[in-house]
Amino acid sequence: MNYDHHYHAGNFADVFKHVILANLITTLAQKEKPFCVIDTHAGYNLYPIQSEEAHKSQEFKRGILPLIQQSKIPSAIQAYLTIIRNLNRNASDTIQYYPGSSYLTSTLLRSQDQLIANDSHQPAYEALHKAFRNNSQVTLHQRDAYELLPAILPPKEKRGLILIDPPFENPHEFQSIIQTLKKALPRFPTGIYAIWYPVKEASITSFYHAIKALPVKNSLCCEIATTNLQHNLLGLTACGMVILNAPWQFEKTIEPALKYLWTIWSLNQEGHYSVKYI
Ligand SMILES: C[S@@+](CC[C@H](N)C(=O)[O-])C[C@H]1O[C@@H](n2cnc3c(N)ncnc32)[C@H](O)[C@@H]1O
Repeated sequence: MNYDHHYHAGNFADVFKHVILANLITTLAQKEKPFCVIDTHAGYNLYPIQSEEAHKSQEFKRGILPLIQQSKIPSAIQAYLTIIRNLNRNASDTIQYYPGSSYLTSTLLRSQDQLIANDSHQPAYEALHKAFRNNSQVTLHQRDAYELLPAILPPKEKRGLILIDPPFENPHEFQSIIQTLKKALPRFPTGIYAIWYPVKEASITSFYHAIKALPVKNSLCCEIATTNLQHNLLGLTACGMVILNAPWQFEKTIEPALKYLWTIWSLNQEGHYSVKYI
């Protein structure tokens, strides 16, 4: 596997995904009952932004950096940005560390909640182990995500969120996600499933069709594009997150956040953001 998330940490796609993740967890935390978050492709817990990889790609400069420099932000970005600011307390207006999804999630858990984090890649698993070995709220696995997920469902809390965030290096990734969801949903039909995906290929249409065919209450599709797709010389410029069984009125929570993010990231007012049920 060639994929290394150190090159992409804090880019627009990471921030987009993590703002949605933080809002889903905050929504779950509105009820006293415990919940479980399952992070199937957790990556590392923290990414140093001064690392050689991040420095080389400079992707964080078109993602978290312009956001952390803003003073007035919508309420749906506040919980997320507070975590980033606390993590970078010693770096005024700049970024030293960007959190992975597991770090963000563990920070938002209450004492009654649990995180199950998985990564099949040895260095990422070792980093997770080092970070969470003394945390009784976090259980770690080093398995293939698509084999693991159906095997551990439902979580004992019977309430929860599953984040599926693969690297999309494998041309069959979309099919693997759909096949896994078909096995996972009968075991945990009430779970919230948040699936991140890049928007760059024609194959996206068949993904939408496959999502629509799943037996779920609703599928909320959030997308952001920072430029027009035909100008796609800058690498990834558009991505989405589909949320199966999205919490009630989640679209109203997340829409102002995505509008704001699009405003600060769009090149010449190009691209778009959207929040719609499919
Ligand atoms: C996009 S990164 C995850 C980023 C992380 N979720 C975040 O938001 O900070 C994808 C991760 O998936 C891991 N991975 C790739 N294929 C996998 C598989 N089949 N099962 C589990 N993990 C896998 C990679 O090692 C990589 O760390």
